[in-house]
Amino acid sequence: MENRHVTLIDSATGKKIDLPVLSGTHGPAVIDIGKLYKELGYFTYDPGFVVTASCESEITFIDGEKGILLYRGYPLEQLAAKSSFLEAAYLLLYGELPKQAALEDFTQKIVHHTMFHEGIKSFYRGFRHDAHPMAIMVGVVGSLSAFYHDSTDIHNPRHREIAAYRLIAKMPTIAAASYKYSIGQPFVYPDNRLSYCGNLLRMLFSVPSDDYAVDPVAERALDLLFLLHADHEQNASTSTVRVAGSSQANPFACVASGITALWGPAHGGASEAVLRMLMEIGDLQQIPKFLDKAKDKNDSFRLMGFGHRVYKTYDPRAVIIREVTHKLLKNMGRSEDPLFELALKLEEIALNDDYFIERHLYPNVDFYSGLIYRALGIPVNMFTVMFAIARTVGWVAQWMEMMSAPQQRIARPRQHYIGPAQREYLEIGERK
Ligand code: ACO
Repeated sequence: MENRHVTLIDSATGKKIDLPVLSGTHGPAVIDIGKLYKELGYFTYDPGFVVTASCESEITFIDGEKGILLYRGYPLEQLAAKSSFLEAAYLLLYGELPKQAALEDFTQKIVHHTMFHEGIKSFYRGFRHDAHPMAIMVGVVGSLSAFYHDSTDIHNPRHREIAAYRLIAKMPTIAAASYKYSIGQPFVYPDNRLSYCGNLLRMLFSVPSDDYAVDPVAERALDLLFLLHADHEQNASTSTVRVAGSSQANPFACVASGITALWGPAHGGASEAVLRMLMEIGDLQQIPKFLDKAKDKNDSFRLMGFGHRVYKTYDPRAVIIREVTHKLLKNMGRSEDPLFELALKLEEIALNDDYFIERHLYPNVDFYSGLIYRALGIPVNMFTVMFAIARTVGWVAQWMEMMSAPQQRIARPRQHYIGPAQREYLEIGERK
């Protein structure tokens, strides 16, 4: 509808303003509050950005009530069934599905930028041998700024594209090296003849002294997991990348900041936390005790892998992963995996519990992803790293979109100040 607006009346002054309402392609319309402060002298208050749109975006759409997730308009279920991680990456970056030649060209560019500068290796040696691989990721990805920033003019679209390729291509190499360092094995150089995920598996699990053949089942499962994790609109880590990028910081530093935000258990750290939780629960009899803990307001324990800021129904990614986990474990002859059984039982009990029903708490993507990673032999402390590799695509796609927006401004939220009122400095002897 044209010229739609909402009228705001200040009860204190009687002053009235009309705020424009902007409709998007899908989802709730937004109220443009740009003139609110100028006309009424107010800021808005929305801790955690629960109802605040921070940007315009054409990349990903989520309907949390209906459990819909679209990449550039394409339903995730269709992409999961028919596409691949790199094709989805192309789609997220460029807005359209590639034709065959474009996909081949893109794939070629990504798989030929997999090596990192030899000097980066020395960074690893500075970390404690038992450092968490996410800690290493934050440091090493940030250090790319020192190696590639000089060749990156963030105002040049071609340079931005090269930076995006570098990040997507090198992330598996950096991640695998983090793992190898943490277990004291030599780094494995990438093999550009392999697929994106095949190469990652080889860099993670091969050793120079033995032959290694990529397991096609594992390769496909990983590719699917990466596709599902590639983007998720303005989540905490992506917003962090955008905020950092809004200050004109270089893309490597921005992505390093995204990795830090992803690490927390309320976000990408959940897959690791889910697995640790399942191991702690241990057996079916313990489930009620842990559910009680999750419901107890005086207990900080939360059922990891449950709940989502946006989804108030099943996370569509969780639906796909649940099925894939089943198939994968069956294929691997591990259908009786006790942790998977425990996860299914926990899910069943929680979904029938009033506390979870009333709060619309459903399993999210990370409730299952850890189980797949475990089945693939990926160690628990690498789960969030795997997520970071996949989400790099979303981070760079969103960063590129932001950098090419005509009205790109530094992100600078306001606050609701509730500290002391202005007061006079007290000399030390006068203080109470
Ligand atoms: N276990 C128990 N209770 C929960 C859980 C949970 N996992 N999640 C939310 N709740 C409860 C809250 O206590 C709150 O209850 P109240 O209304 O009685 O106070 C209510 O549900 C709403 O929760 P909020 O914290 O307000 O929801 P928010 O949108 O801020 O948080 C989040 C979403 C962080 C994902 C939360 O559900 C959570 O901590 N889940 C567990 C961690 C997790 O799985 N994170 C992965 C998210 S997916 C991803 O990032 C890939």
